[in-house]
Order: sequence, then structure tokens, then C-alpha cells
Amino acid sequence: MDCFIHALPKCEHHVHLEGTLSPAHRLLCAQRNNIALPNNISSLSVLEKELYPADYDYEEGQDGSDYLREFLANYYGAMEVLITPEDFRGMAAEYIERARKMNVRYAEVFFDPQAHTSRGVPLETVMQGLLQAREDEKKLHEGKPDYVRIEYILCFLRDMSADSAIETWKAAVNGGYLKDIIGVGLDSDEDGHPPQKFDEVFEAARKAGLKITAHCDVDQPGCHANIAYVATKLGGPRNHDGPTELFLTPKYDAGADRIDHGLNCADNPELLELIKKSNLGLTLCPMGYSKHLGPESVFRKLELIKQTGIPFCLNSDDPAYMCRYKEKVVIDVQGKTGWTMEEIAACEINAIHMSWTKDLEFKKDF
Ligand code: ADE
Ligand code: ZN
Repeated sequence: MDCFIHALPKCEHHVHLEGTLSPAHRLLCAQRNNIALPNNISSLSVLEKELYPADYDYEEGQDGSDYLREFLANYYGAMEVLITPEDFRGMAAEYIERARKMNVRYAEVFFDPQAHTSRGVPLETVMQGLLQAREDEKKLHEGKPDYVRIEYILCFLRDMSADSAIETWKAAVNGGYLKDIIGVGLDSDEDGHPPQKFDEVFEAARKAGLKITAHCDVDQPGCHANIAYVATKLGGPRNHDGPTELFLTPKYDAGADRIDHGLNCADNPELLELIKKSNLGLTLCPMGYSKHLGPESVFRKLELIKQTGIPFCLNSDDPAYMCRYKEKVVIDVQGKTGWTMEEIAACEINAIHMSWTKDLEFKKDF
């Protein structure tokens, strides 16, 4: 089974680029930029041991929002070493290289510009690095069987202001970067920051022809209402996209184009119905919640969603922190569920249908 999963061409639609910042690259950037790591750590093995606690292994049943806050503090703290385009390029290049080794053939990757601009690192620096890594991959591998196609999704941080999101959007427009991203997303701390707060910026993105998605994290206060809003309203009126039978096309009156996480819809039959009716897919990261919410609850919900026929795909979220990149996520989900090869392959087929690229060529790899 593990060999089958390794060889299976895979897609990933829920991975935060900054969540792939490895201890090794963090140390390299810290040294290059003369930045002291916490506790003046200067050795890789100590960094791994002290700042990347295995699997963020919190007590099962710990409150979900505390878990997310604690994780986010570590996640943002680590980014202080990312200063130059080369730092961002190296981070993206490392993810692409890992993707290649796992037979991930296509990924739509989130990044968080405000986590950098708020530290004085300009959007141009971030974009230069990300785009260069993608160019390098194209130059060296396009046309070969191991080519990894990358699209970028610009995320707004929901615990920053709506004005800050608009400012970020304008910087992306003025920098000419809309052509370089495929969509926009919404992440960070959901508690007290419902999607409605960002109506204006999501409507602007939809008018500009970008795809839209938003995190509806697991066990966040208000998560059911947030899932319903994202599924029906986020982004305002939908452009006519020209549905193709190859891709999952949300209904004209749906909101976002996908939902990130959204696992808790399983608790609510009306939400399940709504998501199904809207023809939306979920980008789930089951192993990311399995430890702190308890595997029983997570896999019960996953099986329930599967039974409804709502499309979902399996993703890593923040693999450098959660200790599992995409291939290991699929292996571990299979281990927990006992799904057959056909059922595992169906998740990857869902992922193809949930893809946003217009590049139909990539389907040939599957
Ligand atoms: N940003 C990075 N990882 C995240 C997650 N799991 N939830 C919300 N925001 C995030
Ligand atoms: Zn996420």
C-alpha cells in the first residue's frame, strides 16, 4: 500500500508555504541574516528538538482554539529569519523538491504576505522569491515526468484588520502580481474574525477573476456559521466561469470556490446538504487535527463526509510543524481508515477536480 501511495500522482491544495519552513532552512536564513534564534540556538539538532516539538503533541481533547493560537505563535515567530528574496526562494524551492520526491505533481500553495509586510519585508521581496522558485522549477523540469506545477494562493490574515487586507490587495494589484496568483484565501486565528469582515476584499478578488477560499478551522467558535457564510456568500456574485466537466464547478449561487478544512460540517446535516448542493470541495488535513481533537472524532467525521459524496482531498497544512508532508498524510489516513487503493485514488481524483488551474495539460500526468 505504501508503494502504491508513493507512486500515485498526487495534488496538494492546502499547504502553507511558511508552514514548510524547515529547521535547516530556518537556521541557514538566520545565519545569513545575522538573526539570533530563540535561546541563541545555533545547532540544527537542538533547533529541531526544542522548537519543532514532535507532532505538536498536545493533550488530546485540548481546546481547539488554544491549540491554534499556540501553533500560530510558533509559526509567525519562525518567520523572522525570512528577509531577502533568496530566503523566500529557498523555502519555496525546498517544498517543490520535497513535492517531487513524493510524486506530488501539482500544488496550489498558500502564502501569507502580511506576516512579512508587517515586519517591514516588502511584498516585492516575497513575490520575487516565490516566483523565482517557480521559474527555476519550470526551467529545469517542465516537460519532464517529475515536473511539479505550482500555483500560489495569497492569503489574508483574519486577525489583522480589513483595511490591512485591502492594503495588501492594492499592493498586489499595483505590483502587477494578480497574474501570478490563482486565488486568494483567508487564514490565521478565526476566533472573533468571521469571514464577513473581509467581504470587500473578497468581492474585489472575485471581480478580478481570482478564485476564492477561506479557512473554516476545526472547532473554532462560530465554525458552523462561518462554514455556511463561506459556502453561500463569500466573494459576492460569482463570475460565469464556463464550467468544464473536468473541474469541480461550484453552483452559480455558491460563495467561495472551495472550503479549507470545514471538517465540522459533519456535525450538522443542514451544512452537509448545503455544501453538497453548492458543489463545493473541502481541503481537509485530517492528521493535523488527529492529535489534539482525538483520532476517533476526526475519522468519524471524515467517514461521514465521505459517505455524503462531498468531494474532499487530503493535505498537509503546515508540514514542517506537523511532521507529515503529503505522502505521509495519505499513508497515515489510509492506516487509520483502512481505505482501499481505489478509495485513496478517489481522493486524488477529487483533488484534480478541485484544482483551479486552467492548464488541462497537467491532467496528463495523472
Ligand atoms: N496559517 C497557517 N496554518 C494555519 C492553520 N492551520 N489554521 C489557520 N491559519 C493558519
Ligand atoms: Zn491551513
